[in-house]
Amino acid sequence: MKRKRGETNKNTQPKDQKYMMESNVKDYYNSDNLRQNIETAFIKAGKPPVNLELRDLSPIDQLHTGGARASLDLFKKIHLSSDAVVLDAGCGIGGSARLLAQQVNCRVMGVDLAERFIEAATFLTRCTRLDHMVTFQQGSILDLPFEDHTFDAVLCQHILMNIEDKSKAVKEFFRVLKPEGKLLLHEITRGDHDRLLFPVPWAGKADISFLETWESLSALFERQGFDIRFSSNETRAAWGWWEKVKAVSQKKGPQPNFIGPGLIFGKNASSFGNNMHTNFKKNAICLMEAVLEKS
Ligand SMILES: C[S@@+](CC[C@H](N)C(=O)[O-])C[C@H]1O[C@@H](n2cnc3c(N)ncnc32)[C@H](O)[C@@H]1O
Repeated sequence: MKRKRGETNKNTQPKDQKYMMESNVKDYYNSDNLRQNIETAFIKAGKPPVNLELRDLSPIDQLHTGGARASLDLFKKIHLSSDAVVLDAGCGIGGSARLLAQQVNCRVMGVDLAERFIEAATFLTRCTRLDHMVTFQQGSILDLPFEDHTFDAVLCQHILMNIEDKSKAVKEFFRVLKPEGKLLLHEITRGDHDRLLFPVPWAGKADISFLETWESLSALFERQGFDIRFSSNETRAAWGWWEKVKAVSQKKGPQPNFIGPGLIFGKNASSFGNNMHTNFKKNAICLMEAVLEKS
C-alpha cells in the first residue's frame, strides 16, 4: 500500500530510537514519484526539462528561507577556489549545490537522508548540465560516508532543525573538514516564544522539529573546536521574505501543474507562507547565518 506523505512506515521502523527518528524524518520528505512529478510539471508548463537554466528551477530547488539570493549571499562570505571540494550536508534536491558549483566552478557533493530527494537532485543536475561537477549520494549527516579531512567547506542550510542529536552532526562536520576548513551555516534557531505554528517546511508537526537557541548551538560548535568567524541574526529579513511568500500564495490560489513548493512538500506547502511569517514575527524562530572555521 502506498504511504501518504509524512506517514510513518510502522512495519519497517527499526527499534533503535536514533534510527526511528531518522526514519520519521525521511518519511516526511520522501514522496513517491517525486522525480517523475517534477518532470511532468515542467512538460505541462511547456518547459521540457532538458537544457534548463538554474533560474528555471528556483521556484522548487531552494528549500530554505531567502531562496537563491540567501545562498549567494552566504557563499560570498568565504573564499573558495575552483579546486575546492565542498559538501552540501542535507542537500535536499540540490539547489545550493548546483548554484555553488556554477558560481565557483568547484566540485560539490551532496548528501541527503531522503532517497527521493537524491533521485530528483541527480535528475535536475543532469538537466542543468552540471553533473560533471556536482554529485549526490544518500546518507546521514550523523554518519557521513566520507574519509576524515575530505572537504574544504561544508554547507549546512536548514538541516539542524530536524536533528535531535546535534552533537553527533557537529562531530561529523568537524571530522570531514580539512584543517582550517569552513562551515557555512544558514539555520533556523529557537526564539523566545514557545508556540510554533505547524506545518513548517521541516516538519508537519512537532515530532521531528528540534530547535535550539543560537546561544546553545554556537556553544556546541565551539566545544567541538570550531571558531566562530562571523555570525548574523537575519530574522527581520526572513520575516519580510515570508511575508512576500504569503502574499503571493494568497493571490494565486490552487494551480494545477504549478512549478512551486507544492511539488516538493505537497498540500502542506500552502500553509508555509502564513505559518513561517507568523513564527518569525512573534519570535518563535530566528534565522542565523554564520561562518565557522575548524581550528
Ligand atoms: C528544509 S530541507 C533543506 C534542504 C537544502 N539544504 C536546502 O536548503 O535546499 C532539510 C533537508 O535535510 C535533510 N535531512 C534531515 N535530516 C538529515 C540527516 N540526518 N542526514 C541528511 N539529511 C538530512 C532532509 O531530507 C531535507 O532534504
